[in-house]
Amino acid sequence: MCGIVGYAGAGLGSSEAVDAERLASVRPLEVALAGLKRLEYRGYDSAGVALVGPGSAQAAFAKKAGKLDNLVSEIAAHPLPDATAAIGHTRWATHGGPTDVNAHPHLADDDRLAVIHNGIIENFSELRAELAADGAVFLSDTDTEVAAQLLAREYRAAGDLTAAMAATARRLDGTFTLLAVHADAPDTVVGARHDSPLVVGIGEGENFLGSDVAAFVEHTKEALELGQDQIVTITPGSVEVSDFDGNPAEGRRFTVDWDAAAAEKGGFESFMDKEIHDQPHAVADTLLGRTDTAGRIVLDDLRIDESVLRSVDKIIVIACGTAAYAGHVAKYAIEHWCRIPVEVELAHEFRYRDPIVDERTLVVAISQSGETMDTLMAVRHAREQGAKVLAIVNTNGSTIPRESDAVLYTHAGPEIAVASTKAFLAQITAAYVLGLYLAQLRGNKYPDEVTQIMDELRDMARKVQTVIERGEYVRATARSMKDADKVLFLGRHVGYPVAMEGALKLKELAYIHAEGFAAGELKHGPIALIDEGQPVFVVVPSPRGRDQLHSKMVSNIQEIRARGARTLVIAEDGDDAVRAYADEIFWIPQAPSLLQPLLAVVPLQIFAMALASAKGLDVDQPRNLAKSVTVE
Ligand code: F6R
Repeated sequence: MCGIVGYAGAGLGSSEAVDAERLASVRPLEVALAGLKRLEYRGYDSAGVALVGPGSAQAAFAKKAGKLDNLVSEIAAHPLPDATAAIGHTRWATHGGPTDVNAHPHLADDDRLAVIHNGIIENFSELRAELAADGAVFLSDTDTEVAAQLLAREYRAAGDLTAAMAATARRLDGTFTLLAVHADAPDTVVGARHDSPLVVGIGEGENFLGSDVAAFVEHTKEALELGQDQIVTITPGSVEVSDFDGNPAEGRRFTVDWDAAAAEKGGFESFMDKEIHDQPHAVADTLLGRTDTAGRIVLDDLRIDESVLRSVDKIIVIACGTAAYAGHVAKYAIEHWCRIPVEVELAHEFRYRDPIVDERTLVVAISQSGETMDTLMAVRHAREQGAKVLAIVNTNGSTIPRESDAVLYTHAGPEIAVASTKAFLAQITAAYVLGLYLAQLRGNKYPDEVTQIMDELRDMARKVQTVIERGEYVRATARSMKDADKVLFLGRHVGYPVAMEGALKLKELAYIHAEGFAAGELKHGPIALIDEGQPVFVVVPSPRGRDQLHSKMVSNIQEIRARGARTLVIAEDGDDAVRAYADEIFWIPQAPSLLQPLLAVVPLQIFAMALASAKGLDVDQPRNLAKSVTVE
C-alpha cells in the first residue's frame, strides 16, 4: 500500500527557500523525492513531503493529489526551504478520497509537527471524538490526521518525540507505520511500526527509513530490519530502536543484495516489460546454490528440523492473487513428486474459517512482497494452530519471513510493476525446489531422478528466454485485439493456473473482463459464453505427456471453435495436432509437463501488457491497485 520514506542527514545549511535549479541538490528533499519515485509502485493516488531544519519555526510541506509528478511540479512552482530531516509519502487511499487535503503529511501543533502513515487506524472515530473534545481541529477525512493530533498532544505532555510516538502507538488499534518530524528536533525522524512495513537504511552521516529498501538502496545497502511494535529514532549519526514501552530493542542487520540499477527501467518502455525480460535470470538465480557437489538439494536457509519435514502429512499453500496461482502449480508438482496431499487456499479465506491444521501440517506461504497483510494474518493463524510455516518470499527484510519458521527466498530482484511477472516464475521455481527437496528427504525420489529434474529446471531459464524472443508476434496480436471486451482462458492440469493467471493479468492491466477455466469444466457451464468471434486462449499440454490431457484439450479446442470462438493457442514446438484448430499459435519450447507453466505464462503476460499499452493505459501502475497490499 502506501510508500514511506524518511531521511536525517545534512542539508545545504540554510533555511532560505531554494529555487528550482538548486532543488535537485538539496539532499533531504532530493532523497525524499527519489525514494518516493522508487516507492510509487506501492500507491500512486497522491504524494507529499515535509521538511524540518535548524531554525525552522514550522515544518515545511507540500502535498498533491495524483502521481508524484504533480508534487514535483508543485515544489518547483513553490520551492521549499533547505532542511536536515525529511519525510515523504505516496498514498493508496483508504480513509478519505485521493484529494490534496487528504494527501499526507498531516500537520498538527501549529504546523510544527508533520506525520505520514501507512495502514488503517481502526479506532480512529473514537480517538477523533476524544481529540475534538480536547480542542483539536481536523482538516481532512483521514485516520492519519487523528494520529498526528494524538502525537501532538503526547508531545506536549512528554516534550520528547520518541516517547510521544511510543505513547501514541500504544493508543492505536489497527495497522500502522508512522513517521514524524517536529520543528523542535530538526535532525530527527521518529518512526513506529505495528503490522506494517518499515526498514532502516544505515548511511555515513545520514540515515534513512523506508517501507522497503527500494526507498534508499541508491544511497546505502546496509539495512536494519525492525521487529513488530518497535519505535525507531534516526538522526544523521544514530539509529535507536525501542519497544512501545520504551525498552531498548534491536533490529536485524542485513545487506541488500541488489543494486539501484535493478530497480531502474534499463531502457525498457515500462518496468513490466523489463521484468518480463528479467525472467530467465529470476529462474536461474532462484536455483543458484541449491545443490551440493553430489547433486543433492541443500536448503541452508530452512530452519525447520528435517525430522519435522519427514513427518508432515499435509501441506497447505496460502497466498493471494498471482502468488496463489504459483501455489496451484506447486500443488501438482509436490503431490506428484512427494505423494503428500497439498491444499491451496487464498490466505484471507484460510484465516477466517476453521482450517484443520496441526503439528504435522506444513503451511507454505507464498508472497513476493513478504508484507501482504492477508497472508501475514494467515501465517500467524497457522502457527497458532501448531503448524510449521515455510515462507517463499522475494523481499529480504520483510515481515512474513521473520514471522515464519523457515524461508526459501526467491531471487527475482525488485519487482516494481504492480502486476507480478518475474516473481511468479521465481515462486514456481522455488516451489519446485521445495517439492524436490521434500521428495529427496522423504525417499520418494532417487538422487539421480532429483538431479535429472534439477537439470531440466536449470534449462528452463534458456527456454524462457526463447519465449521472450518470440514476443513480437504476441504483441502484434494483442495490438490487433485492443477493442476486445471479453477474453476467456482455458487450461488443464498445470495449464489451469496458467489460464487463471493469464486472465488476471488481462483484467488488472487492460481492464477487460477475463476468466480462466479448467477446460474440463467447459461443458458444465462456461461454453455458453462462446459465440461468434469470442477470443479464447488455450494452454495446450505437452503432446508427450503420459496421460490423455493433450487429446482432451485438442477436443476442447474443436468444441469451442465449432461454436465460433477465435482460438489463440499456446502449444509446444512441433505440436502439429493443434494447427488445424488454431486461429493464432504462440509456440513455446518443449519441456517436461510439470515445468511447462514457466513457459506458457510468458506469452500471456506479454499479451496483457501489449494490449494495455495499445489502449494507452499505464501498465506499471494500473488503476485502483497497489503493489503491496498491507491492509486486510
Ligand atoms: C497480480 C499481483 C497480485 C499479487 C498479490 C500477492 O499481478 O501482483 O495478485 O500476487 O497481491 O502479493 P504478494 O506476492 O506480495 O503477497
